[in-house]
Amino acid sequence: MTITTKPEIRLTRRVMGIEISPTLAVMNRAQDLMAQGVDVVDFGPGEPDFPTPPSVAEAGKRAIDRGFTKYTNASGMKPLRDAIAERYNRRYGTKLTTDHVIAGTGGKQELFNIILALVDQGDEVIIPSPYWVSFPDQVQFAGGTPVFAPSDPSRQFRPRLAEIEAVATERTRGVILNSPCNPTGAVIAESELAAIVEWCSARDLFLIFDETYEFFVYDGARHVSAIKWFEGHPETIIVVNSMSKTFAMTGWRLGFAVAHPELIGAAGKIQSHSTSNPSSISQAAALEALRGDESEVRRMFEAYRERRAWLVPALNRIKGFCCLDPDGAFYLFPEVKAFFGKAGIVDSQSFADFLLDRARVAVVPGIAFGSDDHVRISYATSLERIKEGVKRIDAALRKL
Ligand SMILES: Cc1ncc(COP(=O)(O)O)c(C=O)c1O
Repeated sequence: MTITTKPEIRLTRRVMGIEISPTLAVMNRAQDLMAQGVDVVDFGPGEPDFPTPPSVAEAGKRAIDRGFTKYTNASGMKPLRDAIAERYNRRYGTKLTTDHVIAGTGGKQELFNIILALVDQGDEVIIPSPYWVSFPDQVQFAGGTPVFAPSDPSRQFRPRLAEIEAVATERTRGVILNSPCNPTGAVIAESELAAIVEWCSARDLFLIFDETYEFFVYDGARHVSAIKWFEGHPETIIVVNSMSKTFAMTGWRLGFAVAHPELIGAAGKIQSHSTSNPSSISQAAALEALRGDESEVRRMFEAYRERRAWLVPALNRIKGFCCLDPDGAFYLFPEVKAFFGKAGIVDSQSFADFLLDRARVAVVPGIAFGSDDHVRISYATSLERIKEGVKRIDAALRKL
């Protein structure tokens, strides 16, 4: 019998519609075990295991020392927004200016601002699946309905226009793409992206393009930003990006969006009444990162590449694991359904529980990202720990 108690606080329908994912319970359990001193190999982290590059951290310290500790423009200081615009202009030949850019407290905030500015009650937003966990909840929070377009694992989960078209209705308001994708690592093909841009533009839909992991692309895969088509489709394309992963700056909370100035103005209005500007200190550090030589970023990239090259074949040698060679990001998304039906494992959650209990290895259940046949393994951890984790997984699964 289920006993339901009357909630003590009367919460809004808006917030009741949002779930703290129950699947993250396994990650919380892993953290509890680690806090008790248990040696858990943690494949959960969604953030780089490297420190922020010293030159960037120094710029933050200098900002404090020179008293750059006051409010800035609520949408970010002009030199930072200009540096972001110039970086795109240099790489893609765009003609972006300050007014095309907003900087905020993480890419997550800019996604949220943009979604709040574009999605009305009843609007449908198409999201290729598997997807990053916050997309559907942000759409729902805005009153919209997320509609999932399943990507094909036999095509490396790379999203295709046909899959998006198949779920479109007259209520469709826009599409959210994430490339390279968290959790699958899939990088959308340039030709497919071009077709999706045209398709959205012809239907007056928005296209949010989240390229948070743009720098981490391997083995000949090529990342192209949707900004490439911005001049021809300024009302359609919104690019969201972040300092978090590229520059190992997750805790500094600095991300940005690039879009039509009218939309950037709307996002700025929302931001001005919520958090105002992102931390002035983080803005100073981000400016240094964008103006710097990126040698530290390349060093991190090489480490991810080496780990990935070791880890994918090692996982595939474990009988029952089926792991694609992902194009990018720092995640693997292996299929584990061969283990279902054994030792109480019935889905991605119970598989993750099994690994935590029997192998002391933490992975994230795929159901959090829309697929119950998979788990997410982050290789943002040292090669030594990766090798230890694989040894433990192999030993635990052999006993099944
Ligand atoms: C796909 C994707 N987009 C956006 C973000 C937001 O990053 P931040 O808010 O740290 O800039 C993340 C973070 O995990 C992510 O994985």
